[in-house]
Amino acid sequence: MKPLKLGVLGSGRGSNFVSIQEAILAGTLNATIEVVISDKPEAPILEHARKFGLAAEALPVSKFKTKLEPEIEEKLVSILKAHDVEWVVLAGYMRVVKAPLLDAYPNRIINIHPSLLPKFKGLEAWKQALEAGESKAGCTVHYVNAGVDEGEIIAQSEVPVLPGDTAESLHARIQVAEHQLFPAVLRKLSGAS
Ligand code: GRF
Repeated sequence: MKPLKLGVLGSGRGSNFVSIQEAILAGTLNATIEVVISDKPEAPILEHARKFGLAAEALPVSKFKTKLEPEIEEKLVSILKAHDVEWVVLAGYMRVVKAPLLDAYPNRIINIHPSLLPKFKGLEAWKQALEAGESKAGCTVHYVNAGVDEGEIIAQSEVPVLPGDTAESLHARIQVAEHQLFPAVLRKLSGAS
């Protein structure tokens, strides 16, 4: 099997990106990260990528908060194509994906979301779960479509909500699960059994 050629998009810390790159380096995931791209020039994910010796690029600054101007999203697509990316991995990417990217990578964009979808779409999903009094929370890897956190679910991982949990402690527990689930899903997509 040929390695999956990944492009990772992220806006923040990049801990999911690191878990994927570490799986690749450990030889448990047959993939390569061809480029890491952020909408935030100062995002730690870009620093992590450079430390791993990977291509890391920031997009031009957008005037919007939750989406990109079509021309900036076109630029994003051209960076992905220039790096021969086959699968786009959203790892803490805080923008709604629009037509330029959706059309360029049909059924080839996946996202990780910190809830057991379809529950708790949108921002700070772990906080929503805590406030709703749920006894379990978790994370979901899903295909990305034009809706927000709505594409077909690929896999989920559950964690308990424990007495005394804060938003931070619950999110930290969910992230531990994310760091297992995301590489595991990519392993499946790479054709490994
Ligand atoms: C994760 O909780 C992910 O589920 C959400 O954003 C967070 C990104 O974390 N979409 P990181 O940047 O990978 O550390």
